[in-house]
Amino acid sequence: MCGIVGYIGNQQAAPILLDGLSKLEYRGYDSSGIAVYNGNEIDMVKSKGRLKVLNELTHDGATLPGTLGIGHTRWATHGSPSDINAHPHFNKDKSIVVVHNGIIENYLKLKKKLENHGYEFVSETDTEVIAHLLDYYYHGNPLQAVTKIMHRMEGSYALGIIFQDHPGELYAVRKDSPLIVGHTDGGSILASDVPAVLKYTRDVFFIENEEIVRMREDSMEFFNVDEEPIEKQATRIEWDVNAAEKSGYEHFMLKEMYEQPKAITDTFSPRIKEGKIVIEELGMADEEILKIQKIQIVACGSASHTGYTSKYIFEGLARIPVEVDVASEFRYRDPILDENTLVIVISQSGETADTLAALRESKEKGARVLGIVNVVGSSIAREADNVMYTWAGPEIAVATTKAYSAQLIALYLLAMKFAHVKGMLDEAGLAGMLEDLKAIPAQVEMLLNNKVNIQKFANRYLAARDVFFIGRGIDHAISMEGSLKLKEISYIHSEAYAAGELKHGTISLVEDGTLVASVLTQKDLYKKMISNMEEVRTRGAFVMAVTTEGNTEVERAADYVIYIPETNKYFTNSLAIIPLQLFAYYIAVGRGCDVDKPRNLAKSVTVE
Ligand code: F6R
Repeated sequence: MCGIVGYIGNQQAAPILLDGLSKLEYRGYDSSGIAVYNGNEIDMVKSKGRLKVLNELTHDGATLPGTLGIGHTRWATHGSPSDINAHPHFNKDKSIVVVHNGIIENYLKLKKKLENHGYEFVSETDTEVIAHLLDYYYHGNPLQAVTKIMHRMEGSYALGIIFQDHPGELYAVRKDSPLIVGHTDGGSILASDVPAVLKYTRDVFFIENEEIVRMREDSMEFFNVDEEPIEKQATRIEWDVNAAEKSGYEHFMLKEMYEQPKAITDTFSPRIKEGKIVIEELGMADEEILKIQKIQIVACGSASHTGYTSKYIFEGLARIPVEVDVASEFRYRDPILDENTLVIVISQSGETADTLAALRESKEKGARVLGIVNVVGSSIAREADNVMYTWAGPEIAVATTKAYSAQLIALYLLAMKFAHVKGMLDEAGLAGMLEDLKAIPAQVEMLLNNKVNIQKFANRYLAARDVFFIGRGIDHAISMEGSLKLKEISYIHSEAYAAGELKHGTISLVEDGTLVASVLTQKDLYKKMISNMEEVRTRGAFVMAVTTEGNTEVERAADYVIYIPETNKYFTNSLAIIPLQLFAYYIAVGRGCDVDKPRNLAKSVTVE
């Protein structure tokens, strides 16, 4: 999604803005722009395409003098990706300039009002409304103008604003779209995400909803919507700036795949103490766990796939019924929740707008909400009743890998804990499962080291048109993730199907050479899966299989087999996903795709 940066201080602003925007590129964007006050007026440069165009146009910022500026990477929502629609946006006499993340839902109504007052619009964006609205309400007091527009705008926004006649100040405001600010050596900086500021400061202030910041070279003041000053505490960012660099890997995605053993270990090890699972942050006594009648899982994309996996585990181990919904649908079906429902929202970024909306809906309906979140201090982490962090570290590649793996581990821990508290998993059973859990990082590492074979296999399928991923039970959930990984980064159409369902229609798409990736990790379903594989193979499909060591019977129904080590039947997803990630990655690399920043996608989806 869009990225925002802003700077005021004693350094030239443009290079800092461009550097900050480069750290936000991973979020996904289609155009970018910066505006800098040059001591006399505001200069603006913006362009469709990659940030390197902006770097070229400004000679890496050198052609834009001035120490106050704002910048933006845009992911189009209102209006196509173009130079005109790129941010920043000016008011009519170019004395106010704005960058915006989010969506102004009532922008058409506001636009009409402004047009009636003689304002003319040059772009198709909702953001231009903000610049003109500020102009309309501005009578020399920036803070007042900002609070006035906050009362008029509906939707979500994080804004960076410069008023030319207040050249010693930079304004920022937030509602439902992330924003952070911090002091630098000789200045103040703002951004929509931590990586953009890490080079300049580790102490950041997370701006809350409807808070305004007035930044100066040497100070920073916070206000509420009534223009009253408020106090805020800085949060220290502990992770290393190197964590957001490629460290010699060709892509962030590959680096992050290799970080999975660590992400998995870091997520389980602090929660296993003397053979017991201790999840203090769950904030639930055993009596409260015993009262849970239903678990409702809500998430988007890959995070929802971890939810589907965990449904089999919660139900199988702890006998608690689980519903899984994608967040964009959840709140529109008027879900039935009560105080005995535990809602688990899963999100890497902690900022996904649909998931956040689902969280709020659930709280309103009286359910307790547990967030499984990767980004510390994110909106979902702050608003959930309790938060269990996945310790995957910053994930930069748009396609998730290590956060997905860490989410699975957090869910395994919860399911085992609940089953143990309910007396459905005895001490010996728990001990055995914990042994298997602790073996996963080394097993993942071993599977990653098989990358050369998978790369060779992937190279044969660079021209594939359609790929099907099939599996049964928990393997269907793995298939969903394998399919999403492939299509999102390689642009090859693929679908995941419950293996037994394929013959009810979709099998008509299978023809000579169609690749069908089959996942079979569940012993009790091997035979059924092999039948389904034979069904497609006799219709010309090339069948690839991911199965557990020892299941050599599969070789009679498959053309290419990848074996994963034996583990507990509930943990197979953590292993089977590794070859599927590698397969997607090498197909995308072989096809020359922008692996870390696939077209049209955004890392953090902050619009509904
Ligand atoms: C796919 C992917 C997305 C995210 C989804 C939810 O590789 O990364 O499907 O899983 O957009 O994002 P978070 O987890 O940030 O809520």
